[in-house]
Amino acid sequence: MTADARTVAGRRVAVLGTGTMGAPIARNLLRAGMHVRVWNRTPAKAEGLLAEGALLASSPAAAAADADVLITMLTDGDAVEQVMTGPDGALSALPPDAIWVQMSTVGVEWADRLADLAARHRVAFVDAPVSGSSQPAENGQLVVLAAGARSARSRLEPVFEVLGRQILWLEHVGDGSRLKLALNNWLSVLVEGMAETLTLSSALGLNPHLFVATIAGGPLASPYATAKATAMMDADFAPGFPLQHAAKDATLAAEAAHHSGVELPLTAALLDRWQRAIASGHGHDDVASAITVSPAPPTVSATAEPTPGSAPGEGLVRAEPSRERRRGQLMVAPCRDRAG
Ligand SMILES: NC(=O)c1ccc[n+]([C@@H]2O[C@H](COP(=O)([O-])OP(=O)(O)OC[C@H]3O[C@@H](n4cnc5c(N)ncnc54)[C@H](OP(=O)(O)O)[C@@H]3O)[C@@H](O)[C@H]2O)c1
Repeated sequence: MTADARTVAGRRVAVLGTGTMGAPIARNLLRAGMHVRVWNRTPAKAEGLLAEGALLASSPAAAAADADVLITMLTDGDAVEQVMTGPDGALSALPPDAIWVQMSTVGVEWADRLADLAARHRVAFVDAPVSGSSQPAENGQLVVLAAGARSARSRLEPVFEVLGRQILWLEHVGDGSRLKLALNNWLSVLVEGMAETLTLSSALGLNPHLFVATIAGGPLASPYATAKATAMMDADFAPGFPLQHAAKDATLAAEAAHHSGVELPLTAALLDRWQRAIASGHGHDDVASAITVSPAPPTVSATAEPTPGSAPGEGLVRAEPSRERRRGQLMVAPCRDRAG
């Protein structure tokens, strides 16, 4: 029976990389009834999936051996190449009619290199990075930015539908990786803009919640930036999207821009700050931890938060400059130590 004729429930999918994104992807495929083999460089991190029905492969080749679809969800292009090539690499064992779906964020140059690698091995290749972090991945609510052979589309759609709320089929292989860089460049600027604006609000003696409450529901609001603002003010840096991956993507965007003859000054500036946050130990924390670079990040007491249903700004009084502030410090109402 060909993969086209199989039901979704019968699909055999190999997932290489069971990190923050790969694990929920594998879990959702299992819940849809597919046969899933997983491989992870650190096997212990994949073991939780066994109870959900996954088979743990001893090598990328063993995971790939009978796959209809092989998904790579690894840190970067180097990691993907290592896992796909070599004696135990997945390409040595992938069946000829299988499709390789490359979902890691690898940038433009690596997307082209990996497409060439697939072509040399006569393997159908679909460049399909995703937008959305750990929670959308858990909920099957990713946005899949796919491009590849038209013949692969009908076979992949049932798989993608399990993973995402939106599937964009783009014209040229690599366009998904290009769009992903554009999306993550926007994300970077939003996060850094929010971090600096909260710091500014605080420095001006305002409760930073006032800024967030004032933009809520209006054209300046962004649900993503608002969620990051809350994380920043709560100093809650549990990783959804780790800062080191965000910095990797911002670097890929800056490099791609440079190769295309333009520069990204905002991205270059935020990268400089984010590298400092990473150097001080925030690489594995959420991208919201970018705010820790500010000399005195805003910290507010929970009692200063607006009550549900209040109008923007209602219940928020302008913070009186504290004695510390009059001495030149920026804290509004220090209530707890911040991570980092
Ligand atoms: N997290 C997000 O919000 C998000 C959203 C969209 C896209 N992405 C992208 O999705 C990709 C995966 O992200 P993630 O958050 O799942 O990352 P992660 O949790 O850090 O997991 C990375 C995975 O790559 C593996 N890996 C790294 N280097 C390797 C190597 N040299 N050889 C073999 N395996 C290697 C890791 O194995 P070990 O477990 O052994 O370390 C792990 O399985 C990245 O490209 C990221 O930019 C992430």
